[in-house]
Amino acid sequence: CSSSLPASCQNSTAETDLCCFEGLHGPTVQTMRCRGALVLGTDPVTGPTNSWTIHGLWPNSCDGEYPENCDSSRDYTDITSLLEDQGASDTLDYMNTYWLSDDESNEKFWEHEWDTHGTCYTTLESSCFSDYETGEDAVTFFETVVTLFKTLPTYDWLSSAGITPSSSQTYTLDELQAAVQNATGVSASFDCDDDELYQIEYWFNVQGPVPSGDFVAIDAYEAGSCKSSGIKYLPKSSDD
Ligand SMILES: *[C@@H]1O[C@H](CO)[C@@H](O)[C@H](O)[C@H]1NC(C)=O
Ligand SMILES: *[C@@H]1O[C@H](CO)[C@@H](O)[C@H](O)[C@H]1NC(C)=O
Repeated sequence: CSSSLPASCQNSTAETDLCCFEGLHGPTVQTMRCRGALVLGTDPVTGPTNSWTIHGLWPNSCDGEYPENCDSSRDYTDITSLLEDQGASDTLDYMNTYWLSDDESNEKFWEHEWDTHGTCYTTLESSCFSDYETGEDAVTFFETVVTLFKTLPTYDWLSSAGITPSSSQTYTLDELQAAVQNATGVSASFDCDDDELYQIEYWFNVQGPVPSGDFVAIDAYEAGSCKSSGIKYLPKSSDD
């Protein structure tokens, strides 16, 4: 892929090679497209107490629409075996620590994330791989998300700003936003369930294909659902 291609969402005329330029499959035709977001959640309230966990990496068209379920012929049923068989056991181990579900099996959660969101990236289509092996697209997706997640140490960023899990203290949206923005230079979306913070969305354009491209952080397209103050950032339960 040419290194001079613009980032996604910046130039629709670059959509000539959809293996090199992330064009996204969407339900509507967009003139400009972008991709994001990496969504990290504290809900499910599970996993290591000093880290957030992964929700997923979701494509988003430039107008805020989320294309979903783009290619059912590439839905897979055994992500664990795909990762093991294709030499990605380290990624699998990491996912079993940091990419967890608490209302279904991890396996089901991962299948859902790939089927619903991963199949919508044009640069992850099977035709984009030389010597494509079945499931290589999904394995590459999970490796990419894990790599990106490791660049976003949310717990540490909040902690550096004095924002730590607490059953009694509350925080303002400005405080949370400032702590993340101090690290990334851009705004994120903060999602709350009533007044409880459960998710942060980080937004990116990508220059080049998803597997090897440069994720360029951008300001969030959407405000999250948290109110401006009284936000609870609750500790994970001690038996996790
Ligand atoms: C858009 O991309 C095409 C192909 O890469 C390039 O020729 C053109 O100059 C770009 N336009 C802008 C405004 O960046
Ligand atoms: C801002 O980031 C720097 C590191 O780049 C860190 O040392 C500092 O504690 C951060 N400040 C806040 C308020 O998060």
